Amino acid sequence: MTVLDGKTALITGAARGIGRAFAEAYVREGARVAIADIDLDRACATAAEIGDAAVAVGMDVSAQDSIARAVDRTVDALGHIDILINNAAVFSAAPIVDIARADFDRVFAINVAGTLFTMQAVARHMIARGQGGRIINMASQAGRRGEPLVAAYCASKAAVISLTQSAGLNLIAHGINVNAISPGVVDGEHWDQVDALFAKYENKAPGQKKREVGAAVPYGRMGTAEDLTGMAVFLASDASEYVVAQTYNVDGGQWMS
Ligand SMILES: NC(=O)c1ccc[n+]([C@@H]2O[C@H](COP(=O)([O-])OP(=O)(O)OC[C@H]3O[C@@H](n4cnc5c(N)ncnc54)[C@H](O)[C@@H]3O)[C@@H](O)[C@H]2O)c1
Repeated sequence: MTVLDGKTALITGAARGIGRAFAEAYVREGARVAIADIDLDRACATAAEIGDAAVAVGMDVSAQDSIARAVDRTVDALGHIDILINNAAVFSAAPIVDIARADFDRVFAINVAGTLFTMQAVARHMIARGQGGRIINMASQAGRRGEPLVAAYCASKAAVISLTQSAGLNLIAHGINVNAISPGVVDGEHWDQVDALFAKYENKAPGQKKREVGAAVPYGRMGTAEDLTGMAVFLASDASEYVVAQTYNVDGGQWMS
């Protein structure tokens, strides 16, 4: 018996990286998963590699109609949704004087509005079904404090922490537990992009920023996507029944709160 036997999960941004690791961990624990991503080709490849317990769903979390279609498609494929992970997000970096309005709007449309309105759509489904559910939002240590070159992304992740608190307090009345995971620095394709941005703005050699942030983690290295899966399984399981509106740091000791 595994802890998510018979459960179903919609995971946004699951074609790669942390979302994919969550999908694999949930399947190992007995769940069936929807791999929802704006990159449908990669979502299909990921779902095929995971196997019969995974289905691919095209989804742009910044568009209301796409959210509605993705929820409908997931319910068609899996029967219902017990667990939502709002994992899709984009990163951007620029000094305050160079931030473009369009880039700020894109970050907030995906990271903030995408999180809120995907929660809303899935919560409506969960409330109508009447069996509660679990929603896990992906925050970040970037949401705990600002960074000089990362204003839009940091603000978007602070908003995710706040949305988790409000939605958690509102939806627990329906038996829906909303919580968040706050990673530190997690190696993967996302951080390859971050490293390239810091190479540009801080005049660093490729790979230098990664080495620096890894060395600064109290645990002694950058995280891996797999390092986060224990918390994601816990927050989806019966063991977290009394956990409401919290954001958990899983970051090798970088932030304390
Ligand atoms: N990697 C880190 O160091 C780190 C640290 C803290 C928090 N996080 C957060 O963890 C989550 C996953 O991070 P990751 O490193 O796996 O990122 P990633 O960039 O590797 O993966 C993000 C996925 O989201 C998808 N996506 C992007 N825009 C989308 C949209 N509009 N609709 C649907 N899907 C979309 C991408 O196609 C991609 O598959 C994000 O919320 C990120 O902010 C990551």
